[in-house]
Amino acid sequence: MRILAIESSCDDTSTAVLDHGIVRANVVLSQDEVHRPYGGVVPELASRSHMRAILPLIDAALERANTTLEEIDAVVATQGPGLVGSLLVGLNTAKAIAFARSVPFLGINHLEGHLLSPLIETSLPFPYVGLVVSGGHTSLYLAQDYGRYTHLGSTRDDAAGEAFDKVAKLMGLGFPGGKLIDDLARKGNPRAITFPRARLKNPGNGGRFDFSFSGIKTAVALWLEEHPLDSDSARADLAASFQEAVVDMLLETSFAALEVFDCPRLAIAGGVSANSRLRARATALGRERNVEVVIPPFGYCTDNAAMIGYAGWQRLLRGERHDLDVNAFADLPL
Ligand code: KG4
Ligand code: ZN
Repeated sequence: MRILAIESSCDDTSTAVLDHGIVRANVVLSQDEVHRPYGGVVPELASRSHMRAILPLIDAALERANTTLEEIDAVVATQGPGLVGSLLVGLNTAKAIAFARSVPFLGINHLEGHLLSPLIETSLPFPYVGLVVSGGHTSLYLAQDYGRYTHLGSTRDDAAGEAFDKVAKLMGLGFPGGKLIDDLARKGNPRAITFPRARLKNPGNGGRFDFSFSGIKTAVALWLEEHPLDSDSARADLAASFQEAVVDMLLETSFAALEVFDCPRLAIAGGVSANSRLRARATALGRERNVEVVIPPFGYCTDNAAMIGYAGWQRLLRGERHDLDVNAFADLPL
């Protein structure tokens, strides 16, 4: 089964071609340059950029996969959650192609794409605990099988990636901030400043494994009011200390869930899983606690159509199809 997949939920336009779940092409066009002057994603500019990019990117993916629209057996696209104006571009393009070619169409949950992204290149058996951590989401799931996911908890306020972006903005680093903080933190001391860690994990939280990142953002803002960033080492120490606190919170809660569910496998996905400190500490902690930790390669961490195609392939295999009147949703629980 050859699938054309489209992802346009936020500020990256992406297209992919998969043969039986194997990625033949995965093309991503970042809109960072468009949004950088505003220090964050501007929804109207995002949808306009998707509209300009979508058709050339479909051509690019087809060409890279050495195929044509005539050879596509199904079309899938992200249906939500995300920015509705952005989602509509990918979703409606996918529907139009499916209609014109008379092939099946399926709308896919963006979070399922992230959650299954570690499976694109590794054979991770179910069940596993999946941490989806990006600019828009920080959620923990128990993945028992394809399509069988238990939501264990989510952030109560900011997503972890959002905290990275906001702290980078406070420090005057630029946008998007995650990678900039990651790079700066390599030269800093993670124990230079002790920022508070929000602890909302089970027990004492109704069995939930929630996160909170607005407190640390405020703590950094307050710290900055009293401590001028007057040297390279001060900047690096702040970045490293902030990053360490976020990584601590993500791992503490994830490993608490692994213990409660007696699960020996952890998958981490979403843009923040590109973070070098998170990757290193998760892997080290996994080794210590006998937990297999799987983090996809960088290209499958940030938003990409390959993961949407992979999730779509699994659903199409089970016979799922959508009518062409399905809509896009800003909120779409998994
Ligand atoms: O998954 P993604 O591409 O888009 C969303 O669905 O949000 O994630 C983007 C987020 C941004 O907040 C960005 O700052 C963060 O991922 N990010 C990072 C790193 N690379 C990207 N955060 C921390 N360290 C990184 N190396
Ligand atoms: Zn995402």
